[in-house]
Amino acid sequence: MPALNFSEVVGSATSQKKLINLLRGHGSQHVLRHPSISQPAMLYGPDNGGMIALEHLKLRSNMASWLNKFYHPPNPITEDRISITGGASQNLACLLQVFTDPVYTRNVWIVSPAYMLAFRIFEDSALKLRSVPEDEEGIDVDFLRREIRKSEEKARAQGNNEPHIKPPRPWSKIYRHIIYAVPTFSNPSFKTMTLRRREELVRVAREYDALVITDDVYDFLQWPSSLTAQTLSVEKAILPRIVDIDGYLDGGAEREGADGFGNAASNGSFSKICGPGMRTGWCEGTPKLAYGVSQTGSSRSGGAPSQLAATFLAETLESEDLQHYVYNTLQPAYGKRYQRMVKAINQELIPLGVRLPQTDRNVVGGYFIWLTLPHPLKGAVVAQRAKDEENVVVAQGEIFQVPGDTENEGTHFEHDIRVCFAWEEEDMLAEGIERLARVIRDVQDEHAGCSQSMQAATAATEGSAKDFW
Ligand SMILES: Cc1ncc(COP(=O)(O)O)c(C=O)c1O
Repeated sequence: MPALNFSEVVGSATSQKKLINLLRGHGSQHVLRHPSISQPAMLYGPDNGGMIALEHLKLRSNMASWLNKFYHPPNPITEDRISITGGASQNLACLLQVFTDPVYTRNVWIVSPAYMLAFRIFEDSALKLRSVPEDEEGIDVDFLRREIRKSEEKARAQGNNEPHIKPPRPWSKIYRHIIYAVPTFSNPSFKTMTLRRREELVRVAREYDALVITDDVYDFLQWPSSLTAQTLSVEKAILPRIVDIDGYLDGGAEREGADGFGNAASNGSFSKICGPGMRTGWCEGTPKLAYGVSQTGSSRSGGAPSQLAATFLAETLESEDLQHYVYNTLQPAYGKRYQRMVKAINQELIPLGVRLPQTDRNVVGGYFIWLTLPHPLKGAVVAQRAKDEENVVVAQGEIFQVPGDTENEGTHFEHDIRVCFAWEEEDMLAEGIERLARVIRDVQDEHAGCSQSMQAATAATEGSAKDFW
């Protein structure tokens, strides 16, 4: 079968799953036809995923040039700022292995509601999890600062002043705190952190020796909130990443007097823009940080993960097929699904009292919408009944709570649910919301009936009490 030009198969905006397979077929065919590319692809590679010796295979530099075009940061992203990873999740684990100590690192501060599959990654590194609430602008930085201060006081009182478990190593440092966030089109909260909050977060991180690890995995999946046939895609990032801000704010990460590791690491992933089976991503930070994470034990033994997948991906970036696929296929397809779902939400759920965050954005994206149910409805009840009565599956808010830290306001989510617009076809999305509306209405009616009969019972009791007295 001849290799397909990717732009030729763009047509049906709703069949993006097939298109992912064709993309992979194209990249792999080219690689496999050329032994000079395929042979090294089948071997162990360099620790950081660089393929310096081979002209064709430059995932790091190809990625750097796409990131420069997309984020247009004031200082160009150089390939020594990038390390190739086995995806965002795997690299989160690697960052923790290299840059944290289970005792000296006081806490991992998790912006909540949070991507729930990250919890175990933090627990595997024996870190103490804390949740940080969001408001309409994103992370509540005042809360974070206050709680970090308390955590520092406690560490001081305990004499926890230097790492004892991890030995000092020339390629790494141990941070006192980790902060974990999904600043853009968050999974699950759907919010985008404002620029002001991003800058404040970098300042707090510098003040308290924290590494902010962001999963920037949805950044490329964006579109105008008022989608029209003329505006189906957005080819530039709307905001700098935390890692970009750390690069330029107040002298940047490599300013005089700083240790050069910086206070931010960005996890990118091909999972959402190519296919999760690739298990490949990239990490960006200062050159010292990017090198440090490439020295994690599992990469030292055999080099960067996903060498074969990285070889295919380098090809698709070189030819710009992947970039075209993101802008011409994924963004329009997800944008249309999003638009359809939001229309249904506005028609069916808003009149019932359901709320969604940040409704005034010009550009939206990601996979998910976060819905707050009208009082006193519980996400768990609505989710269970939606499944049982309407065969609609949604995620209840509680699964996104940080285990063991749900006491503070804004850190528990029993009245919320998360819905995904990325998977189902447009008509199914609209129908799913209609069915969900039926469930919410039924539960509301039952609550209303219940409180009416309670009022009647109270009135009757009061009446009989009056009679009695
Ligand atoms: C916030 C977030 N981080 C990480 C991941 C997983 O990324 P990867 O497949 O690269 O490990 C996901 C996937 O759902 C996600 O939503």
